[in-house]
Order: sequence, then structure tokens, then C-alpha cells
Amino acid sequence: MRITLEDVEYRYQANTPFEHLALQDVNLEIKPGSYTAFIGHTGSGKSTLLQHLNALLKPTKGRVIIGDRIIESGRKEKHLRPVRQKVGIVFQFPEHQLFEETVEKDICFGPMNFGVQEEEAKKRAREAVKQVGLPDGILEKSPFDLSGGQMRRVAIAGVLAMEPDVLVLDEPTAGLDPRGRMEIMDMFYDLHKRRGISTILVTHSMEDAAKYADEIVVMHKGSVFKKGNPEEIFSEPEQLIELGLDVPDTVRFQLKLQKELGIRFDHPCLNIDELAAQIDKAMKRGNR
Ligand SMILES: Nc1ncnc2c1ncn2[C@@H]1O[C@H](COP(=O)(O)OP(=O)(O)O)[C@@H](O)[C@H]1O
Ligand SMILES: [Mg+2]
Repeated sequence: MRITLEDVEYRYQANTPFEHLALQDVNLEIKPGSYTAFIGHTGSGKSTLLQHLNALLKPTKGRVIIGDRIIESGRKEKHLRPVRQKVGIVFQFPEHQLFEETVEKDICFGPMNFGVQEEEAKKRAREAVKQVGLPDGILEKSPFDLSGGQMRRVAIAGVLAMEPDVLVLDEPTAGLDPRGRMEIMDMFYDLHKRRGISTILVTHSMEDAAKYADEIVVMHKGSVFKKGNPEEIFSEPEQLIELGLDVPDTVRFQLKLQKELGIRFDHPCLNIDELAAQIDKAMKRGNR
């Protein structure tokens, strides 16, 4: 499913003394089956933008086209259920929203709320726990007896059980240890590849953005500062550093080699193997 944002503006508490402009002039197209990463400072508008992708927020100007639905300001929207089902959002710290007495009930809640029969919902719950790497037996447990990492996975399973076409992830690995982070990121990537689920990720990790996304959007002060594929985005690392953003370690190291030893590189290296190959090439060329 394609999602398009046209001249989107969003003001919190519009027309009150507390009005706050959180997004402006946002134009974006999220293609079916793509993997898009959003990066940017805290407060740059990432979470606000994400909530436009399934019409939880409606633009105060401009419009958002979600599949065949047009969401625009000044129009009452009804029947948003199909949109909410097709575009699943995993919010920051989703485990805070667990509330049922068993994991199974928690995971079934979403689908059943959207009209899925109990038997089918239970079947989906079993599949979803498997997908997030939890054992079957966990379904009978109380979500509150689980570890933080397990609770996070249960919350994610609840979104997967809705069988969304588009998965929106707002810093899904925040607060997890490095191993848990990698397992969860690899799981989302696997779902993206195997099922063609469009994936939209907000992350502070430039490594994750570079590794998984085919498109990166840099947000700054409520607007799109820059967008492109990882190589394009990290080909001008100074620009990002100036904004106070990070770059992948490999790119930072390239910059250092360039500045201190005069080594020239053809392109930004987004992983260690590429970097090693590029250094090798530069040495052979003897241009240092
Ligand atoms: N509910 C709200 N009411 C008023 N202002 C808000 C609200 N939520 C976020 N904001 C403001 O909108 C801007 C964008 O916030 P947000 O989308 O959360 O940014 P990010 O996710 O990039 O950190 C910030 O200045 C933030 O303070
Ligand atoms: Mg946020």
C-alpha cells in the first residue's frame, strides 16, 4: 500500500494559546514494499509524522493519502478501521500498553476488536508469538510476569496479529540490550523481506538506518531536511554532524582517514567489509 503526504502541516492545539507547529511542508511518498527510516533530533516531528500514517492525527493543512483513502484537514473521517488495520503502529515502549491477564488475550485483543473471530485470533496469536521468537507456552502467562524484553515482544506480536500491510515502528528497540535490539531488528527485516510488508522505522541508530532501509528521511524542525538512499544520505556526513546527528561508525572513520591521512574514498562505506575493501583499494592506488 502506498502512502503519500502532500504539503502536510500539523499544529498541536491549533487555534489555542498553546498552539505548536510540529510539522510543515512535508511531502513524501512511501512506496509499497519499501523500507524507510526516519532520523532526526528529539522534537523534530518524527512521532507526529508517524501518527499521520494511519490517520491517528489528521493534518491541519495538506493531505495524506493512505492506499485509496484521502485524509485531509477540515473533513470528518469515518470508517477509519480498515486504515488502522492495514497500517500497524508499534509505539515507543509498547509494553506500557499491555493490560490483559494473559498474553494470549492481549494479542487477541486487537484482531477481535477489528472483527476477527476468537478461533482465528487465537491462531494468529500462536503464529505471532512464534514470529517474535517467544515459546508457545508464554500464551497462558500474565504479561506482567515477563521480562521487559519479552513484554516488548508480546506487544509487537499484538500488532503483527492484525496482519498489517504496513508496519510503523517508533524506536522499537529503545531500552533493549544490544542482542535484543539486533534480534528484533532482524525479525522486522525478515518480515519485510518475506511478506513484503512496507516498513517505516524511526531510529536513533544510524547503523540500523544504513543497514536496513532503502530510503532514509532526515527530519529537522518539523520538515524534511533531506531524503535519499543510505549512500546518498551519508555521502555528506558533515551536513548531518552539523545538525547534531550521528553517522555510522564506518563513515565517521572514513572522515577521519580522509582528514588525517588524506585517503580519498569513492563512496561512503556502510559496513566494515566495504570499508576494508575501500581502504585496500586506496592503498593500492597509492593516493595517500
Ligand atoms: N501532544 C502534544 N502537544 C503539544 N506539542 C506536542 C505534543 N506532542 C509533541 N509535541 C511537540 O511537537 C514537536 C514534535 O514532537 P515529536 O513528533 O514527538 O518529535 P520526535 O518524535 O521527533 O521527538 C515537539 O516540539 C514536541 O514538543
Ligand atoms: Mg518521537
